[in-house]
Amino acid sequence: MQNAFNLSGQRILITGAGGTLGGATVRACAMLGAEVVLADLDAPEKIASELSAQGRSVSFHALDNTSRSQVDAFVASLGTIDAFADCSGIYSKGDWLADETWDALYERTIDVNVRGPINLMRAVMPAMMKRGHGRIALTTSLAARSAGTTLSVEPAYVASKGALQGLVHYFARQAASSGVVVNAVAPGPIETPMTLASGQPFDFAKLPTGRFGKPAEIGWPMAFLCSPGCTYMTGVVIDINGGLHFS
Ligand SMILES: NC(=O)c1ccc[n+]([C@@H]2O[C@H](COP(=O)([O-])OP(=O)(O)OC[C@H]3O[C@@H](n4cnc5c(N)ncnc54)[C@H](O)[C@@H]3O)[C@@H](O)[C@H]2O)c1
Repeated sequence: MQNAFNLSGQRILITGAGGTLGGATVRACAMLGAEVVLADLDAPEKIASELSAQGRSVSFHALDNTSRSQVDAFVASLGTIDAFADCSGIYSKGDWLADETWDALYERTIDVNVRGPINLMRAVMPAMMKRGHGRIALTTSLAARSAGTTLSVEPAYVASKGALQGLVHYFARQAASSGVVVNAVAPGPIETPMTLASGQPFDFAKLPTGRFGKPAEIGWPMAFLCSPGCTYMTGVVIDINGGLHFS
């Protein structure tokens, strides 16, 4: 019996790879033996150098997920990939009631957090379906379901992650009969610059575990979703929020 969590011989595309949760996903996949192809708005050179110095197999690229033509050309240039993990996204901050510029914020947030993953899925999923196998892991948020941890979460972000959560089920149903599985993680508050910069007034007494999650606590589940251990599970959004979904 083979170790189904071993990623040796697996080629995994990771977008948002220069970010905190992207970095954690990259490290977990690389540590399990994957060849990782990294992309982000700015080419994620730092994490690529870290992995290269460890002798791991890595390439890195600049990619704007909102540009359909750029995404199509990039994915077409890659050749075969076994799994795709999307960790890109933005957290929007603004006052939807009072802010004159809120509509532009809404459009940008939907563009990056919804159209971006759609562009990527449109480029990645059909080729996987044609080959008859593939694993895809997307990143939604606790905000998709519970409107976030605190009342200060902004509605453009909630709308974007809610849309993406619905799309996880859509993509999963489209791809299931072709042997491609599509799942996601929905992180709660993780100790990242995104969480800390959000300015949300976290009350640790109200967090069941009494602490933020750590980036690696997202990276390992993402690596599992990209592994041959994940083949009969699809359309699932894994809550990783230290128990917050109970409250
Ligand atoms: N940090 C948390 O606590 C938390 C909680 C719930 C959900 N999430 C979600 O997890 C994902 C990663 O979060 P993070 O904390 O690592 O944030 P991060 O800001 O560190 O990483 C996000 C990455 O997305 C990239 N990106 C932004 N716009 C892009 C574009 N147009 N094209 C390509 N890449 C683009 C950024 O350059 C960045 O590297 C996001 O989707 C976020 O909404 C994070």
